Amino acid sequence: MYIKSFSKYQTLLLGESFSRFLKPKDLVILEGQLGAGKTTFVKGILKGFGIRKTVISPTFILIREYKKRDIYIYHVDLYRLEKKDIDTIGLEDILYRKDSIVLIEWGDKISNLLSEHIKVKFNFLDINSRQISFYLNSISADRRKIFNEYLAALKNEFIRN
Ligand SMILES: Nc1ncnc2c1ncn2[C@@H]1O[C@H](COP(=O)(O)OP(=O)(O)OP(=O)(O)O)[C@@H](O)[C@H]1O
Ligand SMILES: [Mg+2]
Repeated sequence: MYIKSFSKYQTLLLGESFSRFLKPKDLVILEGQLGAGKTTFVKGILKGFGIRKTVISPTFILIREYKKRDIYIYHVDLYRLEKKDIDTIGLEDILYRKDSIVLIEWGDKISNLLSEHIKVKFNFLDINSRQISFYLNSISADRRKIFNEYLAALKNEFIRN
């Protein structure tokens, strides 16, 4: 299932809408080339959680922590991390924690090690357009059903706009 975004603003809105589906213990892997829109989407998610602090790309700081009420949101960027160093950054301390949602850019570096996760893939269509695809990996059938209904609604919402 995919959705097209025709502007940075739409990708932000999409992230904001997508945030309504997320809950603690979720892991979201964001995949796509440099400048594809991964950080923009994360900004939307954080906005959806009511986190106002400006989100800058965590390329130099590997893990950024945000908190809303009793939920932690971690924004991770593995772009500069070498595969051999992955187990040195403490990812295992935040993954699948019952109070945490983890969003990882360039997470495909570790996705073969991960079980349950949602993958969001960004593809360039042209300068201002992106195709954003969603994949569920090892997610329970119940949740998968909810997700598909949710995405269909989201897609309608976006087609209308
Ligand atoms: N439809 C769109 N959605 C998202 N960003 C867009 C879109 N159209 C143009 N852009 C531009 O593309 C860039 C996306 O940057 P962003 O930091 O979100 O990418 P990224 O995937 O996180 O890249 P990196 O791998 O470097 O972290 C921004 O400069 C934004 O203005
Ligand atoms: Mg980024």
